[in-house]
Amino acid sequence: MKTFKRTLLAGALALLSLPVMADAAHPKIGFSIDDLRLERWSRDRDYFVAAAEKLDAKVFVQSADANEQKQISQIENLISRGVDVIVIVPFNATVLTNAVAEAKKAGIKVVSYDRLILNADIDAYISFDNEKVGEMQAGGVLKAAPKGNYFLLGGAPTDNNAKILREGQMKVLQPAIDKGDIKIVGQQWVKEWNPTEALSIVENALTRNNNKIDGIVASNDATAGGAIQALAAQKMAGKVPISGQDADLAAVKRVLDGTQTMTVYKPLKLIASEAAKLSVQLARNEKPTYSSQYDNGNKKVDTILLTPTALTKDNIDLLEKDGFYTKAQIAGQ
Ligand code: GAL
Repeated sequence: MKTFKRTLLAGALALLSLPVMADAAHPKIGFSIDDLRLERWSRDRDYFVAAAEKLDAKVFVQSADANEQKQISQIENLISRGVDVIVIVPFNATVLTNAVAEAKKAGIKVVSYDRLILNADIDAYISFDNEKVGEMQAGGVLKAAPKGNYFLLGGAPTDNNAKILREGQMKVLQPAIDKGDIKIVGQQWVKEWNPTEALSIVENALTRNNNKIDGIVASNDATAGGAIQALAAQKMAGKVPISGQDADLAAVKRVLDGTQTMTVYKPLKLIASEAAKLSVQLARNEKPTYSSQYDNGNKKVDTILLTPTALTKDNIDLLEKDGFYTKAQIAGQ
């Protein structure tokens, strides 16, 4: 009779979705993503879930659709479900201090995925070297347009990566500015990395400068796509060098047709599987191997930093060799 009662009670607790018992052999991982509407993150998600399940972990994915309040309540939901680790792609790097503190109080480890969460007690950060990405972006445009008027199309002002990218970009551009070879005629952050925002920002920049813009340093492919639409309306697409990053499929086709100068390939399977491995290790209290530390305003965060690759028309076939796209996808069938 006792067993029956215990089973009944366990079933009732499970129904109330009370915290699942931690089980290191089968860790439970929450994956809180800023915005699955941007192409790359659905690939991060698929690669992460596949890698984590191979390690006997169970993953609960949540997308906040670029809404900071939604992301906070989704994280709180994951905490109440009693996951062992929460992996977060922050929409806004500066508003998660309390949510992270709550997770830590519940004994949950927190990993910052690709974007650094600021002023919070996170356990680890995994990303690509975003300063290097910024240097590649500026370098690609500068090579194609060594002189002239430049517009800097930044990432989301809520995303710490946008600032690191800009630091890398300015490291490359500053000497050409100091020599008087190039002039920054305007710069603007793009809310939520939104291509439509980028389109109107570049339309205004072209109008304000009578179309006299010789180079655009764009911080990712989605915003580069919006900028190129604005250039195309002035019959300037393909004439103004422009950068990007993420190797989005549409961007790869633009690099091949010459309207986008370069993109940056960040092997998403690599970061996602490394993050899955890191999360399972943290869940099992094993010691991961870190490559560096980043100060996030609260602490020096143990960090795994991966290497990006600049892609132009000359080496874009790397994507097919790496299995990121098939030949048919790149050919546009
Ligand atoms: C950044 C990320 C980039 C870019 C952007 C859009 O934080 O590092 O890859 O794509 O988000 O989601």
